[in-house]
Amino acid sequence: MTAASHSSKAGAALAEGGWEVPSPCRVLGIETSCDETAAAVVVDGRDVLSSVVSSQTDLHSRFGGVVPEVASRAHVELLTPVVAEALVEAGVDGSNVGAVAATSGPGLIGSLLVGLSAAKALALVWDVPFVAVNHLEAHLYGAFLEDPALELPLVVMLVSGGHTMLVAMEGHGRYRLLGQTIDDAAGEAFDKVARFLGLDYPGGPAIDALAVEGDPKAADFPRSMLAEGYDFSFSGLKTAVITHVRKHPDQAVADVAASFQEAVVDVLVAKARRAARDVGARGLCLAGGVAANSRLRERALDACIEDGLQAFVPNPAMCTDNAAMVAAAGWWRLRADGPSSLGTGADPNLRLPLLG
Ligand code: KG4
Ligand code: ZN
Repeated sequence: MTAASHSSKAGAALAEGGWEVPSPCRVLGIETSCDETAAAVVVDGRDVLSSVVSSQTDLHSRFGGVVPEVASRAHVELLTPVVAEALVEAGVDGSNVGAVAATSGPGLIGSLLVGLSAAKALALVWDVPFVAVNHLEAHLYGAFLEDPALELPLVVMLVSGGHTMLVAMEGHGRYRLLGQTIDDAAGEAFDKVARFLGLDYPGGPAIDALAVEGDPKAADFPRSMLAEGYDFSFSGLKTAVITHVRKHPDQAVADVAASFQEAVVDVLVAKARRAARDVGARGLCLAGGVAANSRLRERALDACIEDGLQAFVPNPAMCTDNAAMVAAAGWWRLRADGPSSLGTGADPNLRLPLLG
């Protein structure tokens, strides 16, 4: 792998850097930012040879949320077998892996350090580049794994347990923040409401499954800040659900779940559509764990058809945390910036790199 003189590569800002990546480049991706221990091998940022995810959900469910110390200890135990499985499934070893990428933030500091240290050690042993990956950018590239033919600009709605952002993507690595949540993230609202309703952890999938049997019009929950700008607020909705259930204790939980979910989806889809129209986007992309929500996917796809937008809605396994998205984002970053320094630390508060 050699540093190239700054040859311009059409169309992609992230690809305009000075690093030439020979093809095929098999990138081992490692993801340990929260409670999934994951490893994957992806070729040239798009072909997934393997993607192994070991979820720690059972370990954390009795606490109703992720316990950081429990998470990092579990990553230490699980990472070696998970990486071994990803390599075997992909049919690769140290002799033909081209780079090792790992999430460096945002996330839980102890958990991030486990994956990051392992990735640096493997890169050193195999004498290949190490690439530090931003978890938020990785979610974005999860959306492009199935359909890399981007038509820019795009509006990306990144909805996860920790983030809710509307971003205009003008090129690879060129993001402009349009709006974000002013209080709870969308996934956090799903998790908190589910916990109040006595549903399983994590709450998003539990509400999604139960809502199928419920009436989304059963309760009239607020659509906060629906007509105002691109920012979101979900904490009032959470309070409204609690107040409603206390007043109507006999109402079917499925009806409450469906009505809550509809309120969240109404706001997300309305703002994403408006943003796409206002920035003249060619497409709309969903990313992050909440993008696995069946009602959000259905409504976003309908909106894209109605508005003539290209839709990037990754399959549900690519929405929640996984390492294929890390390997894909790592490949794009390697092309743009070259290898990361082995001195790169974990950053629990790492932000998406934004323009201007
Ligand atoms: O992206 P992710 O796996 O981890 C973070 O980076 O936060 O997102 C996890 C979040 C959790 O809040 C979870 O409840 C939510 O995504 N989630 C869902 C669904 N699947 C996961 N929310 C709604 N519907 C789903 N089907
Ligand atoms: Zn995530």
